[in-house]
Amino acid sequence: MRPPVILKTTSFFDSSYSSPSDRRLSTLANHFVCAHNPMASHDSISASPTAAFDSVFAQIVRAPEDPILGVTVAYNKDPSPVKLNLGVGAYRTEEGKPLVLNVVRRVEQQLVNDVSRNKEYIPITGLADFNKLSAKLIFGSDSPAVQENRVTTVQGLSGTGSLRVGGEFLAKHYHQRTIYLPTPTWGNHPKVFTLAGLSVKAYRYYAPSTRGLDFEGLLEDLSSAPSGSIVLLHACAHNPTGVDPTLEQWEQIRQLIRSKALLPFFDSAYQGFASGSLDADAQPVRLFVADGGELLVAQSYAKNMGLYGERVGALSIVCKSSDVASRVESQLKLVIRPMYSSPPIHGASIVAAILKDGNLYNEWTIELKAMADRIISMRQQLFDALVARGTPGDWSHIIRQIGMFTFTGLNSEQVSFMTNEYHIYMTSDGRISMAGLSSKTVPHLADAIHAAVTRVV
Ligand SMILES: Cc1ncc(COP(=O)(O)O)c(C=O)c1O
Repeated sequence: MRPPVILKTTSFFDSSYSSPSDRRLSTLANHFVCAHNPMASHDSISASPTAAFDSVFAQIVRAPEDPILGVTVAYNKDPSPVKLNLGVGAYRTEEGKPLVLNVVRRVEQQLVNDVSRNKEYIPITGLADFNKLSAKLIFGSDSPAVQENRVTTVQGLSGTGSLRVGGEFLAKHYHQRTIYLPTPTWGNHPKVFTLAGLSVKAYRYYAPSTRGLDFEGLLEDLSSAPSGSIVLLHACAHNPTGVDPTLEQWEQIRQLIRSKALLPFFDSAYQGFASGSLDADAQPVRLFVADGGELLVAQSYAKNMGLYGERVGALSIVCKSSDVASRVESQLKLVIRPMYSSPPIHGASIVAAILKDGNLYNEWTIELKAMADRIISMRQQLFDALVARGTPGDWSHIIRQIGMFTFTGLNSEQVSFMTNEYHIYMTSDGRISMAGLSSKTVPHLADAIHAAVTRVV
């Protein structure tokens, strides 16, 4: 039997076949093959790579890699044994390995062994226990807002999904559509809120000259925001700068926001990660809740419970009365239902089990503090290593900044130099994830920074 004849052609996505006339020609060629070779069925052709010729997506241009996730893509391609990925915001052990918390492993075992559990859909708003406990975690167990049922909490797809649901809810139901984001901010914020239907504006946050907070600029920009505007605030461990306001500064920000009737939307992706204390890191949010005013909070359990890929988070909206809160919740359901119907069960079950049980909760806080402490010690070690090398410049911001990231102040040319010469990967804005460092890799990073600042101006 003769094998079917299949035209050897280039993929339709290749530029040589990009014009419509080329496409028509290739389709005609396929018909010709079928018509003149009885063994070449349409099936054999459509199962071959030539099927790409007829793609209705042929005009699609390749999108750029995500600036943060793209760092990992480049890192993975580098064969160097000394390569170091400081781009991604995920915790690593001293050995450079991802960490699953012991308490999480233990609870997962319990969940798996519990034969009474099933995989039924959970409600649109998620697990009720998880929601209640998440609200208590961020607002405090004695929070009047929680006790008076003025808070509605829905389970979300980690921090990102919770921000997105909050954004869409505001775009549909709130009288102001403008959200102010700090400059700089997490790269996904502008995209999340724009696609949610809000209009994005910026307020000053970081002062490159001091590598600290531009507090005057922040107050000035928020003072001139139209009344009612939404303001995105990083609850703690600001990403990417690692610069947080002091509690006194938070108090001034609160007074300004309330006096101008702005609506605060907190992004809490690092509770417990900044200081090692869940309560201390929640102080800014609690300051705003204590005044009785309204606000939104998106929580993520990616970092503080290491549940990155489980996508566990929550959106809470604090209202003035329980009646308003329950009407808000009814509308949140209408946002969620057509988006993903209902959230996943597994990760939220782990979180609920840990938050519910005193012993598991204590075990979690110990493991969380160990992660935060390791990051803080990496800051000190990197600072000491730069001082020991006599690296030009003031590096005290490394120990002043807080949370997962250090905003080094290195420029994009210096970053490229460090990647090319030292195989160190980070975002081009000079942000490094302290969680990706270890005592073993600090000297390599310090050598690279020293070389970058002395050789690349
Ligand atoms: C400031 C900030 N918000 C939200 C997120 C969302 O993370 P996730 O969707 O993984 O919970 C991140 C993650 O890096 C972040 O840094």
